Amino acid sequence: MHYRTLGCTGLKVSVVGLGTWQFGGEWGKQFAVDEVRAMLEAARDAGINLIDTAECYGDHLSERLVGEAIAGERDRWVIATKFGHRFRECFQRDAAWQPADVVRQLEDSLRALRTDYVDLYQFHSGPDEAFDTPGLWETLAAEQAKGRIRHLGVSLGANTNLHQTGRTPEVGAGAVQVVYNRLDRKPEDTVFPLCRRHNLGVLARVPLASGFLSGKYRRGAAFPADDVREVWMKSGRDRLLDEVRQIAAAEVPDGVPMARWALAWCLRHPAVTCVIPGCKSVEQVIENAAAAGLDIRQAEHPQAA
Ligand SMILES: NC(=O)c1ccc[n+]([C@@H]2O[C@H](COP(=O)([O-])OP(=O)(O)OC[C@H]3O[C@@H](n4cnc5c(N)ncnc54)[C@H](OP(=O)(O)O)[C@@H]3O)[C@@H](O)[C@H]2O)c1
Repeated sequence: MHYRTLGCTGLKVSVVGLGTWQFGGEWGKQFAVDEVRAMLEAARDAGINLIDTAECYGDHLSERLVGEAIAGERDRWVIATKFGHRFRECFQRDAAWQPADVVRQLEDSLRALRTDYVDLYQFHSGPDEAFDTPGLWETLAAEQAKGRIRHLGVSLGANTNLHQTGRTPEVGAGAVQVVYNRLDRKPEDTVFPLCRRHNLGVLARVPLASGFLSGKYRRGAAFPADDVREVWMKSGRDRLLDEVRQIAAAEVPDGVPMARWALAWCLRHPAVTCVIPGCKSVEQVIENAAAAGLDIRQAEHPQAA
């Protein structure tokens, strides 16, 4: 595993982290704590130290599974979670950006995670009006002063959002989470230059394009009714899968699994600190961790730790 410094937060994170939206039940599979524990043990053994979760991956369900699975080992992990939504049912959330709501969510997240601090607390992909909610960032700064939050981050909705990226340092946040992968390079000309200028850490999310960049799906692929790819990602799916075919043929070296290549591809960009692929099995955790072993020119990376 390689490690990088998450921008001005100073956190040392593994270049491959673990995304855990999957544990919340919206990816066609329900998880029990034993499986989550096995996945986190495999992640730990591979040198992964960063977990990304959120308040609305299930009603704090992903956080609860993570908290139970890492009980007794809290300090070896960098835990990133998020605020801004109240989970109603699968694929339904209510917005909750008022400062009092956010404090309540923080307390629920701490309880679910069985911890008294969050390493990175991220604004969860809200609109600009939510980002600019009066008193929001002051309230979060007060929670930071109490020690319940170590660092603040901003998980962008649109991956070209310059308003929120530009304001990230002003509100006291040090990292941005953004969709970035071989099928969606928009941040390269929009968000990344600002991140580099302000020394913001970058968590590249959806680095496998929701699994499509593993190369295992073909045009016409269908997903279970309780899989987010069937609910939110139907339109344009075949076009993306066709593009994946072309990339597989033209760019992926012989003998390299495409998922591994796709993660290493993200890690080459000088703005990107880490990737946070979502995983559904121990095998996927191990395979994704192996991306750190591909040639990613780690030594030349500005955030190499
Ligand atoms: N707004 C936000 O802040 C936001 C939004 C989205 C995601 N996120 C975070 O980012 C993380 C990653 O994004 P994502 O999970 O949406 O997309 P992703 O990482 O691009 O894709 C994850 C999916 O790819 C498949 N996969 C993973 N590893 C694989 C491997 N080695 N080989 C083959 N298939 C593999 C799995 O699904 P199958 O095996 O079923 O194909 C998995 O569910 C999330 O878990 C979450 O923590 C945050």
